[in-house]
Amino acid sequence: VPPKSKSKSIRRKDFISTLPTREGWSTPLVQYNKYWHRAQILNEILQVQDTFNPRSDDIIMVTQPKSGTTWLKALTFTITGRARLSFSDHPLLTRHPHQLVPFIEIPDHDHTSHARLLDTLPSPRLLATHLPLSSLLEMSPGRCSSRMIYLSRNPKDTLVSRWHFEHKVLQPEHRDFKMELEKAFTMFCEGVSECGPFWDHCLEYWMESLARPDKVMFLKYEEIKADPVQAVRNLAVFLDVPFSHEEETSGVPQEVVRICSFDTLTSLPVNQAGGVDHGTYYMPNSAFFRKGVAGDWANYMTKQMGENLDLIVKEKLQGSGLFF
Ligand code: A3P
Repeated sequence: VPPKSKSKSIRRKDFISTLPTREGWSTPLVQYNKYWHRAQILNEILQVQDTFNPRSDDIIMVTQPKSGTTWLKALTFTITGRARLSFSDHPLLTRHPHQLVPFIEIPDHDHTSHARLLDTLPSPRLLATHLPLSSLLEMSPGRCSSRMIYLSRNPKDTLVSRWHFEHKVLQPEHRDFKMELEKAFTMFCEGVSECGPFWDHCLEYWMESLARPDKVMFLKYEEIKADPVQAVRNLAVFLDVPFSHEEETSGVPQEVVRICSFDTLTSLPVNQAGGVDHGTYYMPNSAFFRKGVAGDWANYMTKQMGENLDLIVKEKLQGSGLFF
């Protein structure tokens, strides 16, 4: 915990400078409570720990970057808002999913206005985070009573997706950055990825979902891909807004899947242009959509790399009942 002297911002920076640092992707990663973060994000995490006011009815979507956060935001927003929002002029048609569901720890602009924005959202709030469970619980003393949806993804696809993403989101002065996939792969296998170790992040939420299934739902990207309509039904049940008989008969679950699909979202102008400036990074709206398939890793990694990573993940998750 950062010492309580000096101004808060200097204290945070001083504190971060004492933490283990490693070469990351385009910027170094800093280790805090076993997890690796970019220094800028860690600064924001420490800041939000002071300002975030959790509510018991918050609905929090949790992912590691590139696990399908954008999709989960769209799905949850559409499921929970369907009683008041029509599909024909739905907010998703003109707003990027990240504009509809804010991250807890990643401000779009400055931190003060972000904290205010979170406080002014009506309940139940839809929020997202990449934070490990242990860091999230630090913000809400005692047990967090919010409902959480954790979306995981096959680590090989998560890594390949991140590798592509990293090259798309740099400011012009960093655009000469290039990292060989082999190097990113070696780091990932050592547990060094943003919000990694990959397996520890998943495992914390997996164990929590077993202990408190009414509060924590654990999903896999590949399962939603395989049967999106069923996944949407399960989500609606978990969120206490199950589809009625009439909704089922009129195809509402299918309509939710359609409006949130990769094809629909990528066809919309709002997701093709514009973006958000995060300092070192500029996140184009389009960067959150690439291929949207399961198994694309095989086009970039050798079979041997895939087997090596599978083995590491299997060993790390051994005995937990979780597998990829
Ligand atoms: P790929 O790079 O493998 O295509 P995140 O939202 O966590 O940043 O994850 C981004 C990944 O989710 C990207 O994966 C992106 O293409 C995919 N994605 C985004 N929207 C999607 C959707 N509606 N359906 C399926 N996949 C989607």
